[in-house]
Amino acid sequence: MKKILITGGAGFIGSHVVRLFVNKYPDYQIYNLDKLTYAGNLENLSDVDKMPNYHFVKGDIVDAAFINQLFEKERFDGVIHLAAESHVDRSITNPMEFIFTNVVGTVNLLNAAKAIWKDNYEGKRFYHISTDEVYGALGDTGSFKETTPYSPHSPYSAAKASSDHFVRAYHDTYGLPTVISNCSNNYGPNQFPEKLIPLFINNIKHNKSLPVYGKGINVRDWLYVVDHARAIDLIFHKGKTGETYNIGGNNEWRNIDLIKKLIEIMDRKLGRPEGTSLELITYVTDRAGHDLRYAIDASKLRAELGWEPTIRFDEGFEKTVEWYLANEAWLNNVTSGSYQDYYRKMYGE
Ligand code: NAD
Ligand code: TYD
Repeated sequence: MKKILITGGAGFIGSHVVRLFVNKYPDYQIYNLDKLTYAGNLENLSDVDKMPNYHFVKGDIVDAAFINQLFEKERFDGVIHLAAESHVDRSITNPMEFIFTNVVGTVNLLNAAKAIWKDNYEGKRFYHISTDEVYGALGDTGSFKETTPYSPHSPYSAAKASSDHFVRAYHDTYGLPTVISNCSNNYGPNQFPEKLIPLFINNIKHNKSLPVYGKGINVRDWLYVVDHARAIDLIFHKGKTGETYNIGGNNEWRNIDLIKKLIEIMDRKLGRPEGTSLELITYVTDRAGHDLRYAIDASKLRAELGWEPTIRFDEGFEKTVEWYLANEAWLNNVTSGSYQDYYRKMYGE
């Protein structure tokens, strides 16, 4: 019997990780700790929230007293830490929130784990989920390796980089049994429609303009979210303590090419003549500090733990579009209220 704390389990990636663990490990007790910010949505877990091994705790990782009490009470064996402020554009307008949650929140969790585990680390693990954005931006060639020096450019990636450093420091200084993974851009069901793919699906559906930053030539490496969750499962159970693993889809797309592909699928699914929605493309002022290209070298994860992505991009992308079209109520719920205020501030419409 193991007690596992998953933070940020009501968010996009966290909900897929919770689902996988609750279904795959009936012997584990899974605790989902989430503040339910604008990005956290318990509807994401409606298919598993009645399972006897699932528990939800509403709380803020920035609140050290609350976190310490929770760890004292539940005495978790493992932590999979996903809770974060995760959107680069929001970090540009409000960096402090990112420092509180991503940095202070992570250190609070490290302290709480260290306090309950004392120096008895047998069977314990603190797994920190991070991003490839900590490595900075690539030119036209090359890819990020685990040894690539950190060079974050946005307040989001700077805060994630800082949290990664604290996790390593707690391993090196106190011997805390930590592991870190840095993943490329995820796509799939349940992603909040502020990120490129769900935002553009929603806009195409409503015939709203598609704000392409700069020239649309930035490159991202896209991975289906369930493949990320599978990698997290593998690294949590088999990764080496103190190590870092890069996770990526080996699937690079220029933004504009991805957007055209999305338009092609959407026009087909919506029964619009081919190419109709191309006219929605609107080039807007570039994101400040916009990283040109991300690409991941995931060969360590493949060689050491045998992980490979299982969902081909064509298949995953089509499935993703179908999910958003079939889950209109989900989209309507998350795009109401505070999200709309944010949207108006960002895009002025
Ligand atoms: P998300 O924004 O969809 O979800 C974040 C979750 O964290 C939400 O449920 C939110 O309510 C919760 N949360 C935020 N602040 C909190 C706080 N102070 N206390 C408790 N809970 C809080 O994010 P996501 O896209 O699912 O990303 C999850 C993790 O994976 C993040 O750490 C992110 O840096 C990392 N990551 C994301 C991607 C990606 O493409 N989305 C890629 C690589 C790594
Ligand atoms: P995003 O989904 O925000 O992820 P990240 O910045 O973490 O990679 O953005 C993906 C790419 O799409 C990035 O190059 C920025 C670009 N983008 C736009 O061109 N327009 C938009 O409205 C958004 C949200 C993103």
